[in-house]
Amino acid sequence: MNGNAIEVLDLVKRYGNVTALAGVTFSVSRGEIFGLLGPNGAGKTTTIKILTGLTPPTSGRAYVAGFDVVRQPNEVKRRVGWVSSEVILDDDLNAWENLELQARLQGVRNWRERATELLKYFDLLQSAGRPVGGYSTGMRKKLEIATALLHSPEILFLDEPTIGLDVNARAMLWDLIRTVNREFGVTILLTTHYMEEADALCNRVAIINLGKIMALGSPAELKSSVGGEVVELEIERPVDLSALKRLPDVLDVAASDGKIRITVRKADETIPAIVKSLDFSAVKSLKVEKPTLDTVFMKLTGKRIEESHVDYRRFYAMIRRSRR
Ligand SMILES: Nc1ncnc2c1ncn2[C@@H]1O[C@H](COP(=O)(O)OP(=O)(O)OP(=O)(O)O)[C@@H](O)[C@H]1O
Ligand SMILES: [Mg+2]
Repeated sequence: MNGNAIEVLDLVKRYGNVTALAGVTFSVSRGEIFGLLGPNGAGKTTTIKILTGLTPPTSGRAYVAGFDVVRQPNEVKRRVGWVSSEVILDDDLNAWENLELQARLQGVRNWRERATELLKYFDLLQSAGRPVGGYSTGMRKKLEIATALLHSPEILFLDEPTIGLDVNARAMLWDLIRTVNREFGVTILLTTHYMEEADALCNRVAIINLGKIMALGSPAELKSSVGGEVVELEIERPVDLSALKRLPDVLDVAASDGKIRITVRKADETIPAIVKSLDFSAVKSLKVEKPTLDTVFMKLTGKRIEESHVDYRRFYAMIRRSRR
């Protein structure tokens, strides 16, 4: 055992003849924001359920805060918070009452002090007396996170924290997640199928598909693994490419119907040399394509992550709202 917040060793989970996890291994350092990025059915929620002691693995081992999730589930539960897309708030109760309910379930003493601190931090103090049925989706999510932090966990699991949120609410939540990580010193494992979210928030990301980790690293490492940035030039007339091809930082040059695509390691660093090596009066426009985590996913699986993901929870949320 070492000092990692989470240590996962060759986890396998089968539901009947469905293999949800096919041997997953990774570790999360204390203080990290770690992301599991993958499409529907990848095994993200299953991983969280095993790590929070909600379901046992078929085989393999996992340690959370130094405790074995199978043998010491209570030690684990005391040290982790969990926010999922399943509703945990009671719409008829206000924020205080929801927090009190959770405090009783968790056995948190002096909860009111902690709740006040969290509500203040999360900018919910003003609305805390209103039934949460009237909250916006973003406010609900904030209160869910506050609820999960009531017992001061070391590690917070966020399962698709921004699913169904609009752009503004998502940005607000990203800030909040960073604050919880930095100011409260909480290690965070989150799942998402939004590549920009993994990119913006996570120190390291594991790309998971069909129960297997396909790649793991910092967003920058993952993006550079797909082989560089592309400078695309639109040209008016044919130009001599020989000098361009000899540049040391140019990895590949492809020319076709009025376009030249130049693959380089770092576009910003190589563009000046590209400009010098060509008759630039023939160039109509210049565009830089940088790889995203979607490029990485595409390269690994042949599919775009958004294409292989259905956001069905948004419909559940809509149905829930329409019933009120
Ligand atoms: N309780 C269960 N019984 C049977 N199969 C299950 C159960 N839970 C999950 N699975 C299956 O295990 C696989 C992984 O599911 P999981 O919920 O972990 O995926 P996910 O990455 O969280 O997907 P999503 O993005 O849709 O939430 C899927 O094929 C799913 O159908
Ligand atoms: Mg899931």
